[in-house]
Amino acid sequence: TPADAAAGSRYVFDEVAWGNDATHHIAEGYDADVLLRWGDPITADAPEFDVMNQTAAAQLQQFGYNNDYVGFTPLDGNPDRGLLCVNHEYTNEEVMFPGLGRQDNVDFAGMTPELIDIEMAAHGGTVVEIARNSDGKWELVRDSKYNRRITPLNTKMTLDGPAAGHARMQTNADPEGMTVMGTVNNCAGGMTPWGTYLMAEENFHGYFWTDKLDAEGNPDISEHPEAAKLKRYGVPGRWYAWGKYHDHWNIDLEPQEPNRWGWIVEVDPRNPDAMPIKHTALGRFRHEGAETCVSEDGKLVVYCGDDNRFDYQYKYVSNGTVTGDETFGSSLMSDGTLYVARFDEDGTITWLPLVHGTGPLTAENGFDSQADVMIDTRLAADALGATPMDRPEDAQPRGDGTAYIMLTNNSKRTADQVNAANPRAESSFGHIIEIKEDGGLHSATTGTWSILVKCGDPAVTEVGAQWNPDTSENGWFGSPDNAAIDADGRLWISTDQGSGWGKTGKSDGLYALETEGEARGTSKLFFRCPVGGELCGPYFTDEMDTLFLAVQHPGTDGTKDLVGFERDSTFEDPATRWPDFDPAMPPRPSVLVVTKKGGGKIAT
Ligand code: FEO
Ligand code: CA
Ligand code: CA
Ligand code: CA
Repeated sequence: TPADAAAGSRYVFDEVAWGNDATHHIAEGYDADVLLRWGDPITADAPEFDVMNQTAAAQLQQFGYNNDYVGFTPLDGNPDRGLLCVNHEYTNEEVMFPGLGRQDNVDFAGMTPELIDIEMAAHGGTVVEIARNSDGKWELVRDSKYNRRITPLNTKMTLDGPAAGHARMQTNADPEGMTVMGTVNNCAGGMTPWGTYLMAEENFHGYFWTDKLDAEGNPDISEHPEAAKLKRYGVPGRWYAWGKYHDHWNIDLEPQEPNRWGWIVEVDPRNPDAMPIKHTALGRFRHEGAETCVSEDGKLVVYCGDDNRFDYQYKYVSNGTVTGDETFGSSLMSDGTLYVARFDEDGTITWLPLVHGTGPLTAENGFDSQADVMIDTRLAADALGATPMDRPEDAQPRGDGTAYIMLTNNSKRTADQVNAANPRAESSFGHIIEIKEDGGLHSATTGTWSILVKCGDPAVTEVGAQWNPDTSENGWFGSPDNAAIDADGRLWISTDQGSGWGKTGKSDGLYALETEGEARGTSKLFFRCPVGGELCGPYFTDEMDTLFLAVQHPGTDGTKDLVGFERDSTFEDPATRWPDFDPAMPPRPSVLVVTKKGGGKIAT
């Protein structure tokens, strides 16, 4: 590995060599220790994990599946003790349930009510207390009063903001339109300045069921009273059979239930009895994440992408200012304005307000109130003329008026749909946009934008990649997904190439991407995943001596035709047994803790 590929890079470490194999790799001089795996008991009385005899009751007290967002908040100001908050985005049945093949899950033939309840119990989130032991290593505090699971099976949530209690939010089970059973497909998220945990509801459409199918076997929503709106959101996806046994997931029985999903959820990690809140002021779409910052004028700003091909980049700006006295459920999350971005060809960005009565957002156009604008955010953004993007994933503000937008890829953009902010047709590898808000204020409604990097292999001309030429063969990447800014203001990117990783031949990983000076646009590989896994997190503690990483779905993405890895017929087709490497255990999504050997700030 080259010692330091980039002159002027602020990231001090020797790159990991690119590749793809059954385990993870971290830069020399660092430890990447497994902290929590799917099934690990998280409460004092939780049963030990028994993968051959899993139950929903056990899963409700064990770490969930497919860890995605990771956040951390210290307890009582002690940096050696705190609460870890982790999203569990979705489930991979063929590697969770012994003997259940992929096809059993596709046609649901093998999905019993008990397996479905396990799936539901494995979704949602986890809050656990962790502490540093005498060796300086982080450990779960299993008997902590804070430890809990948040699931779509048994965690009731309330609502606030413009759509709370609205007639379109009411169902048979909840005539007040104020109580929802749980959260799903929690992809990325964020921590608020007051230490609460935000969970973004992303691909909620996939969980809805209908028994009405057309001649081709596709959902037939033609009789639904809001068919056009359902279609814009892709509901019902019929990815899961939950609606066969849980009425609220069946739109034939609860036609308004989809309006109650696709929001940003706030959780109070310090109070297990506090009911999480779905904040409807932040709009309803396939929320990738919810990274917050305090604008220099004191306003709370939350950047949110809608991860769908040709969907939009949003940000929310509070009306009030952050005083430092905020607590869980602060009105800063319900009293504010949601904006959607228009990226103009001249390099300016205009944030268009999603406010009822403004421009086309009127009753004449189907928006009777602000509740309608929030429930139908995508349609409102369509009407305002926002710029259709290449799948906006995480968006990371830095606090100085700068934000980084991950555009992960868009295989469906055609040559005539290319624009300055989405410059490549059939974009397999994505790009990253840097926004500079006017006046250095995150709350500004105008700013400028530029492309920081166009991803993919710079050695292949047809790819059209754009990197600082000091980037080594290890450092370039495809499909940026999550991002973090460390306490020194440096940008880190994790990737999710999905089943398309064969196009680069590289595992997903964590990259240090320089944004400043002569090294701007130089990328270095710090960590890489086991085969078939996507990297989520990343999250640095304020001291920068600890980095949390989440390896999602190890052994599964794009691995069906792989050869050369150990397999076992009990679980379908796992290409790796990471992290246990036990033939009786499938691969397990896990959270890792990265620390420097001997301690100290990471990459310095
Ligand atoms: Fe769940 Fe947009 O990645
Ligand atoms: Ca993601
Ligand atoms: Ca992030
Ligand atoms: Ca992704």
